[in-house]
Amino acid sequence: MGMLLKIIQFYARFTLSFTAVGYWWRSLFWDKTPPNFTGQVWLVTGASGGLGRAIVLKAARHGAVVLAAARSAAKLDALVKEAPAGTVIPLPTDLALQRDTEALAAKLILDGRKIDVLVNNVGILNNNFALTAEGREESFATNILNHFLLTERLIEKEALRPESVVVNMSSGGMYNAPLMVKLMNVTDPAKYRGVFAYAVHKRGQVELTKYWQEKYGPRGMHFYVMHPGWAETAGVQRSLPNFYKILNLILRNGDQGTDTAIWLAATKPACPPGTFWFDRAPREEHAYEATKVTKDTPAGLAEYLRGELAKA
Ligand SMILES: NC(=O)c1ccc[n+]([C@@H]2O[C@H](COP(=O)([O-])OP(=O)(O)OC[C@H]3O[C@@H](n4cnc5c(N)ncnc54)[C@H](OP(=O)(O)O)[C@@H]3O)[C@@H](O)[C@H]2O)c1
Repeated sequence: MGMLLKIIQFYARFTLSFTAVGYWWRSLFWDKTPPNFTGQVWLVTGASGGLGRAIVLKAARHGAVVLAAARSAAKLDALVKEAPAGTVIPLPTDLALQRDTEALAAKLILDGRKIDVLVNNVGILNNNFALTAEGREESFATNILNHFLLTERLIEKEALRPESVVVNMSSGGMYNAPLMVKLMNVTDPAKYRGVFAYAVHKRGQVELTKYWQEKYGPRGMHFYVMHPGWAETAGVQRSLPNFYKILNLILRNGDQGTDTAIWLAATKPACPPGTFWFDRAPREEHAYEATKVTKDTPAGLAEYLRGELAKA
């Protein structure tokens, strides 16, 4: 009963705001000047479909060269054809795997790429428990561990420019979990709950962004974490079929769901560590008192992820 009440409260509070209704209302007051990314190099993960694909196309149409990483070479090729000629470079990679993520970073470094904007967009909500070939719970590896690896490696090897922008695609789902380092990688299927694991990872992204802002912000780099709202994508349809059936008529389209990512990269607003961006504005970091309670810290999360990567 308590859980049902919590769910009703969550939807009552956020449905209008997170769907196209909230976007439509807020966007009435926004500056509509098109961004100019001419001369920039972007790296977008989870780029072959959904929000990642929309980000790639927008950045490319506004002047950037975009390195697009996802698993499906066929979907990436279709994306290359849709973008302006020569603007999208496909990088087929499985970002659930540390080995593949390391290989991607190594290739970019070897090629001498200098990246202006990194969008850590890839993210999955697995209702069914799955382990990667490397023995990690798949959504943990995809949603946070390999974001950490890719970002750290690119910074360490100076493939991210000193004034670059990193946008981490979190979710309003993070409102449902505190920072819980021990629950990042649940490898016991009996203890795994897909929606909760997703919330834990998405909260983790907010905390990791704080860590990065504090560590690398003074060097001039810009780190942001954001919520796209609820957008119509294959991922939502697959992972939340009932949610999709009920809300699909008012879900955001790709342009609406990615507006804040594009706006952050274009405007680089100053913000305190941990600012959670949604529809071009800072939003509350916690919707419930209970999620403020944690003994874990952003630095502790980073240390845990580093330790996890060192096991390989
Ligand atoms: N849509 C929403 O309403 C919503 C709301 C809140 C937050 N978000 C967040 O926004 C991000 C994008 O969501 P979405 O709805 O666009 O997802 P989506 O429709 O499932 O698209 C995911 C993309 O990621 C790629 N991908 C999945 N697993 C991968 C892996 N292991 N390695 C490399 N690429 C992989 C997929 O392509 P391949 O199959 O080719 O690999 C696809 O291009 C996620 O972080 C999600 O949590 C979305």
